[in-house]
Amino acid sequence: MTRRNVQDAWSQLEAHRARVAEIDMRRLFAEDPERFSVFSLAAAGILFDYSRHRVTRETMALLFDLVRACGLRERIDAMFRGERINPTENRAVLHTALRNRCGRDVRLDGQPVAPLVESVLLRMRSFVGKVHSGEWKGYTGRRMTDVVNIGIGGSDLGPVMVSQALKPWWQPGMRAHFVSNVDPSHLLETLAGLDAETTLFVVASKTFTTAETMMNAHAARNWLLDQASDESAVARHFVAVSTNAERVAAFGIHPDNMFGFWDWVGGRYSVWSAVGLPVALMIGMDLFEQFLDGGCAMDEHFRLAEFESSMPVIMAVLGIWYNDFWGAETHAVLPYDQYLSRFPAYLQQLDMESNGKSVTRDGKPVASATGPIVWGEPGTNGQHAFYQLIHQGTRIIPCDFLMAACSQRPLGDQHETLLANGIAQGQALMRGKTHDEALAELLAAGMGREAAEALAPHKVFAGNRPSSTLLYRELDPFTLGSLIALYEHKVFVQGVVWNINSFDQWGVELGKQLATALQRDLAGDCRIQEHDASTNGLIDTIHALRRELTDDQD
Ligand code: F6P
Repeated sequence: MTRRNVQDAWSQLEAHRARVAEIDMRRLFAEDPERFSVFSLAAAGILFDYSRHRVTRETMALLFDLVRACGLRERIDAMFRGERINPTENRAVLHTALRNRCGRDVRLDGQPVAPLVESVLLRMRSFVGKVHSGEWKGYTGRRMTDVVNIGIGGSDLGPVMVSQALKPWWQPGMRAHFVSNVDPSHLLETLAGLDAETTLFVVASKTFTTAETMMNAHAARNWLLDQASDESAVARHFVAVSTNAERVAAFGIHPDNMFGFWDWVGGRYSVWSAVGLPVALMIGMDLFEQFLDGGCAMDEHFRLAEFESSMPVIMAVLGIWYNDFWGAETHAVLPYDQYLSRFPAYLQQLDMESNGKSVTRDGKPVASATGPIVWGEPGTNGQHAFYQLIHQGTRIIPCDFLMAACSQRPLGDQHETLLANGIAQGQALMRGKTHDEALAELLAAGMGREAAEALAPHKVFAGNRPSSTLLYRELDPFTLGSLIALYEHKVFVQGVVWNINSFDQWGVELGKQLATALQRDLAGDCRIQEHDASTNGLIDTIHALRRELTDDQD
């Protein structure tokens, strides 16, 4: 990468953006009946339709020039080779090695990584097998039926999302629960429905220091011991997933019950590691490995495809196009697939924790807008809530529609209705409805001209609003693995273009530090004066409200 080449490519795109200011997707479709086949591709079980975007062949060519100028090929190779591409933490980024099912020779500091990964997968297989067969017994000799994952961030969002997405594959009689929030109601409401004799806790924390997870894990341990009354029960009911063996031992979990991973796996990229244990406990190891296979298939596509036919690269450059050249600030992820209901939340961490940065890799202020705000909800629910703004608001909001051709849970025509809605939304965003069309519709429906003319402006849809559609046969483990890896690589490519470190997350630290300091003030009852006026005022009010409640109760 040279700065000059990048700047040239950027300037070319700016000039092109000015030339295509009036670009009109309706016209592009009318002019080119082949637009779908030109602007769509399939890989690793996913069809990606990007024909409904404000792009021409020239736009795409200029965007590919940009990623070339940014040295994308070298950066992809560096990641897969295990170079320390996370400089602020001096770490390699090798989550792809966790799903390296095609035997690439991946080394870290000269040592092969595959044996490490393989040994943990084997231990997971043995453990999952014992739980499923009933050989693993609780403190009263009963088999485990309920798995409670205690973790937060990457130690929660991945396992929650994937477990939920693969619910049709759950082993009979097994149930998964997830506790993440330090709000005690999360843990207490979860435990309320559970039987300690048949509950297995998985404490998942890369660092094993995260305050929320440690507090919940200790509380869960006390809950168990209140019923079991014998410390030895902990070994039957608690396992840990972590990189920190010492801390796990200090918590009281035996090393035999710990499943490790490594500092080269970022939290938000860790569902492929032992952090996926709750998933494996739900669906079994064979299907968990199919999930890894799906991730690997997308990795191979990303590693080997030309940029012009690389799904992650195309997704990434479309995002850059809107984010940096059209002023889009958010990106909506809209699964027409209820099993993906937690996918937007999962992507929020993946994308926003990775690319929510304002300095470049060498610590200089970035020159352009970086990561978008990612948000979304499943369709059709969103249609009855926030789609109004996507269709008629003043902002441009690129959308991803995700949908399965075949339902896991067919019921009458409902899946057809779901798909019809998903496809129609992309169509409506692209086509819009002109003033003339709106007026003609009203008149045809029998409305008088004056009333129709007054109402017509409210019924206009500007259209020309961008969306991609991701279509797959069904949401099976392989496809889900491929889908997650696709978004991971999209985030990576965008980070390369913005020249930021997508693999650290220093921005989460300050709040944690301040919270630790405030906890002491909250626990006391003294008037607080040492902070800013807002902080003092809030803490004093909490103290006053607590006094009020106590007085009321007395
Ligand atoms: O606070 C953010 C974060 O560090 C995430 O990056 C991470 O996924 C999460 O906390 C949980 O961390 P751990 O797995 O170490 O408990």
